[in-house]
Parts: sequence; C-alpha cells; structure tokens
Amino acid sequence: MSDKTILRALRGEVLPTPPVWMMRQAGRYLPEYRATRAQAGDFLSLCYNSELAAEVTLQPIRRYGFDAAILFADILLLPQALGVDLWFETGEGPRMSTTTTPAELAALKGCDDIHDTLAPIYETVRILRRELPSETTLIGFAGAPWTVATYMIAGRGTRDQGPAHALKATDRATFAGIIDRLTEATVEYLAKQVEAGAEVVKLFDSWAGSLKGQDFEDFAVAPTARIIAELKARFPGLPVIAFPREAGEGYVGFAKKTGADCVAIDNSVSAEWAAAKVQTDGCVQGNLDPKHMVTGGDALVEATRDVVRAFSKGPHIFNLGHGITPDADPENVALMVETIRKG
Ligand code: CP3
Repeated sequence: MSDKTILRALRGEVLPTPPVWMMRQAGRYLPEYRATRAQAGDFLSLCYNSELAAEVTLQPIRRYGFDAAILFADILLLPQALGVDLWFETGEGPRMSTTTTPAELAALKGCDDIHDTLAPIYETVRILRRELPSETTLIGFAGAPWTVATYMIAGRGTRDQGPAHALKATDRATFAGIIDRLTEATVEYLAKQVEAGAEVVKLFDSWAGSLKGQDFEDFAVAPTARIIAELKARFPGLPVIAFPREAGEGYVGFAKKTGADCVAIDNSVSAEWAAAKVQTDGCVQGNLDPKHMVTGGDALVEATRDVVRAFSKGPHIFNLGHGITPDADPENVALMVETIRKG
C-alpha cells in the first residue's frame, strides 16, 4: 500500500495534517505558467503539447510542494475527441459546434475512436509519472457527463445551463443519448489515463447544482455511479473523487450512491455542515473560498485554520471550493500552505 498522503486520506485515514492541492493550481496566476503558455501559443496547443503540459503541471509542485499534481488538460477535450469543433475566444471562454439533434448525436465518433486525438494527454501522464517527486500523487480527470453536455448543447458556457435544460424537456431521447455517449467515452478516456499512470481520478460536475430532484439523480448521480463502477471493475481499488459542485443537500449520501471515495465540497456550504453531513461517509475535499487567494492576510490564515479544524475529525484533503482565479497572488498560496502545515 502506498504511503502517499493523498492516497492515505482517500483510504479513510485521519492524518494529523491534511494533504493539500488546489483546483487550477497550474494557471494564469503564476508568471511561469503565463510564460510557458506564451511559448505554446494558445490554451489548446498547450493542452496537446505533452512536454509543456507536463511542465505547467510541475510548476506549482516545485513552488509549493503540493501533495498532488493534477494533469494539465481540460474537460472539453473529450467532446473535441468525439468530433466536436472546439476553440477558445480570448477573454470569453470556450466555444463549440452544438450537438442538439439526433443527426448531430449520431455523427459523434464512437468511444473507441477518441484515443488518436487524446494520445498526447496520455503521454503527458506518462511524463508526469516519471518526473513527479515520489511523494506526490498524480490525479487524472474528466468532466462529468452533465457538465460536458451543457457546453456541447449550448456551444459555450452558460450561466443557467438553459439550453441543456430545454433539450432535456423537449427531446429527452437525444439529451439522454448525449449523456450516455459521454458516460461511455469518459470511462474509456479515464481508463487510458490510469493505464498511463494516473493514481486517482476526479470527475468535475461543475454544473451539478442546477439539476434538481429526480434530474439530479438521473443526470448527476447515475452517470457518475456508472463511470465509477466500470472503472473500479477494471482497476480494483482505484480511488475516485467526485465534485458535484453546488449540489447542496445533494452532497448528502453522494459518496454512497455513486461509490466515490471522496466528495469535493464547494464553498457555498460551510465546512462545519459538510463535516456533519458528508464526512460521516468518508473522505471529503475542500473547501476554502478561492477569494482568500486574492485578498490574503489574517483573514486567509483564520479561514484556512477554520477549514482544517472543521474537518479534523475525519479524512480530509485540503483544497479550495473552486479553482484559483487569475487575479490571485502567488504569495497568498504560499501562506495558505504554510498555515496548513505549521498549524
Ligand atoms: O485544475 C487544474 O489545474 C487542471 C487543469 C484543468 C483546467 N480546466 C485547465 C484550464 C481542469 C481540471 C479544468 C476543468 C474545467 N474546464 C472545468 C471544470 C472545473 C471548473 O472550473 O468548474 C470546466 C467547466 C472547464 C471548461 C473551461 N476551460 C472553461 C469554462 C475555461 C475558460 C474559463 C477560464 O478560466 O478562462 C477553460 C480554460 C482553462 N482550463 C484554463 C485553464 C488553466 C485557462 C486557460 C488559459 O487561458 O490559460
């Protein structure tokens, strides 16, 4: 059994100091990331350049000694591998060709035809397994089907996921077909990441919070449960982190219903609430408000200690409640890590 701290926490061990990493830890707040990105050209070129993607993954590990590295890639590479056109508008975010009709669904590639496009991502994983320090855990990831579907259906990011909700209401068969195709493709994508050396996988369901009632069960819980069951059948003991962001009450029982080893918590719920309602089922990850990485100071130290204290009686991986933002100060990240490790 590995004694890496993240893997111990994922097995349910309560550690004296929680292991720590950050969502979007390789990113624009770091000058060395901006320099490598300029060298690569645009964001997608960086994702598909295995050497440079590995380099930006390693940058925050060198700077802060985080307990985990997360593969540098994006959740929207999978639809691109399924045949969707994807590009990023500077300052605005992702744009895609839309998938909303039976014909467009039928035109998507099969799940075994994604690997030519995604081969550079698997190569990034192999480089990282060679180059990461022996104590650092390598996390692979994918978007959860619902969140990826919201981008495929709208052709862009949306505030309320309106187009995806509309398709769900008007053409349930096509909507469910998109979710099914993504569920199957996500299994194949993550399986290749694990074969290449990812030790943990994480499913990002950033828009889970907009699914209510039975929709949450059908399109957040069920696809996640299917992906996890299939991966664990192929890779017994593989730890999985699920992040149904802003699920609120939906966090309660989510690990049991899906088979996830750890549930990542956003900062719309308090650490005390999550400790009482979610950590009782196993490891949790989270949930410092990323705004503290911008504002820093005593408030950052206090809030960091509060999160550590709230989760100290159960298995916990320290993280932010969402990704670090480009306007964050790298010194504040150092202060957070020091506060966690020195108590
Ligand atoms: O966490 C990590 O450091 C690993 C790499 C990673 C990225 N995106 C890199 C990235 C991961 C895990 C993601 C996940 C992702 N991507 C999500 C789910 C998590 C979340 O944030 O809710 C979503 C919804 C996406 C789609 C996406 N990618 C959007 C909406 C954007 C534009 C918004 C933005 O922040 O600019 C991206 C771009 C993106 N993905 C960047 C990075 C570092 C910024 C790209 C750049 O300009 O350099």
